[in-house]
Amino acid sequence: MKTAAVIVFLALGIFPSFQDATAQDDKGFCSEYQKPPSVCTKDFHQICGTDNKTYSNKCFFCKAVWENLGSLCFKQEGEC
Ligand SMILES: *[C@@H]1O[C@H](CO)[C@@H](O)[C@H](O)[C@H]1NC(C)=O
Repeated sequence: MKTAAVIVFLALGIFPSFQDATAQDDKGFCSEYQKPPSVCTKDFHQICGTDNKTYSNKCFFCKAVWENLGSLCFKQEGEC
């Protein structure tokens, strides 16, 4: 019972912040990266940027955001 309560608590805690991150602009979206990510995993979760380029995943997208600070923003999830 105690474990279940902890899991519910964690789920409630994580989910709203995830929604916030996706609802915000590029800075909020990439806020988990305090600096340009040096190594990106190869997981496939496409992100479309405002430069109309499709990035393989959030890490690659956020790296590009860091390299084009101010000019590249999050557009949508998935392919452009
Ligand atoms: C991206 O595509 C949209 C829709 O086709 C277009 O309006 C916009 O100018 C394009 N942006 C860039 C940076 O190419």
